[in-house]
Amino acid sequence: MITKDKIIVALSNVQEPDLGKDLVTLNMVKDIEIDGMNVSFTVVLTTPACPLKDMIRGACENAVKILVDKNALVTVNFTADVVSNRKDNKLVLPNVKNIIAVGSGKGGVGKSTVSVNLALALAKEGSKVGLMDADIYGPSIPIMLGIRGERPMMKDVDGKGMIIPIEVMGIKAMSIGLLVDDKQAVVWRGPMASSALKQFVTDVLWEELDYLIIDLPPGTGDIHLTMVQTIPVTGAVIVTTPQDVAVADAKKAIMMFDGPQIKVPILGVVENMAYFTPAELPENKYYIFGKEGGKRLAEQFEVPFLGEIPITMSIREGGDEGKPAYLNGDEISIAAIDKVAQQIARNISIRNANLEPTKVVEMIS
Ligand SMILES: Nc1ncnc2c1ncn2[C@@H]1O[C@H](COP(=O)(O)OP(=O)(O)OP(=O)(O)O)[C@@H](O)[C@H]1O
Ligand SMILES: [Mg+2]
Repeated sequence: MITKDKIIVALSNVQEPDLGKDLVTLNMVKDIEIDGMNVSFTVVLTTPACPLKDMIRGACENAVKILVDKNALVTVNFTADVVSNRKDNKLVLPNVKNIIAVGSGKGGVGKSTVSVNLALALAKEGSKVGLMDADIYGPSIPIMLGIRGERPMMKDVDGKGMIIPIEVMGIKAMSIGLLVDDKQAVVWRGPMASSALKQFVTDVLWEELDYLIIDLPPGTGDIHLTMVQTIPVTGAVIVTTPQDVAVADAKKAIMMFDGPQIKVPILGVVENMAYFTPAELPENKYYIFGKEGGKRLAEQFEVPFLGEIPITMSIREGGDEGKPAYLNGDEISIAAIDKVAQQIARNISIRNANLEPTKVVEMIS
């Protein structure tokens, strides 16, 4: 006889590979149903973008067959409850579970491109995702999402006018470029830019989100300090091309986030424009900007390597035309983006299991 208790015992032998404990201890198993030889249950993952689903499914099936009954017909269903990085630090962005800052050091390496496509990939897997364009000097999200010129609506919340993000392609997005005239932002300097950004962050009404992705301007300056002083960032994603000059600047970005004063955990390094593959010769890879610079950077700083994204026509065109490659591009681009998104989601779950929530940095101004 197959019983619920036997299934629970069997599943308490299945480890969650990243979290180092078994599924039962982690409270990840629910809705066990047994009908003769048919056994079904649901595993509650820490993110819908979990890259280990197949591995966990296989391990659950084996555990039931080996420890309960070798003839059992096992169905493993998945759902997800994204773990929150927030405990009591809920003064800013109270409804957002995890905040991902995308930075680089060097300009033009693809932060905005990665941010947009990452947001879409996480949303497609089933998460609630927001995208905040914090590039006060050169906001590019409105063009990349095809929402340039849209005027966001306002809503009164406790007497305060709050800006409602634009809903587009299954995500919520807001850019400082939708609030100010194109020519205004570029002339902002130091303190003015910082206070505009601060206001922007606190005046947007982000409702329930699993992940809020923040596309940062290039560099490691005032704006970045303002960001970590205003928002408890769950972790930072560093984008670089393989080229030495980009990697050198990416190092500075890692050191800034990871430094003793800021202490934002690094979720990993994305190597963008890693190689070019012509559509007619898919086996050929041309390492235009050098090879594996991002990977070596990750190894050097002992942070996760999140994957390579190739240079493709569809990523470039998608950005320019407001039709992002993740939704409209070729298979190679989509697969590469998916892999990076899954690794980021996975590393957030690991981070939240092992580290305390990030505190807003209070310091030197
Ligand atoms: N993998 C890629 N394949 C093809 N084109 C790409 C790729 N990544 C980025 N691009 C293109 O390179 C240009 C710069 O990318 P993007 O604007 O995302 O960089 P950025 O780091 O956000 O720049 P900035 O520092 O100015 O904010 C864009 O035209 C974009 O379409
Ligand atoms: Mg950008």
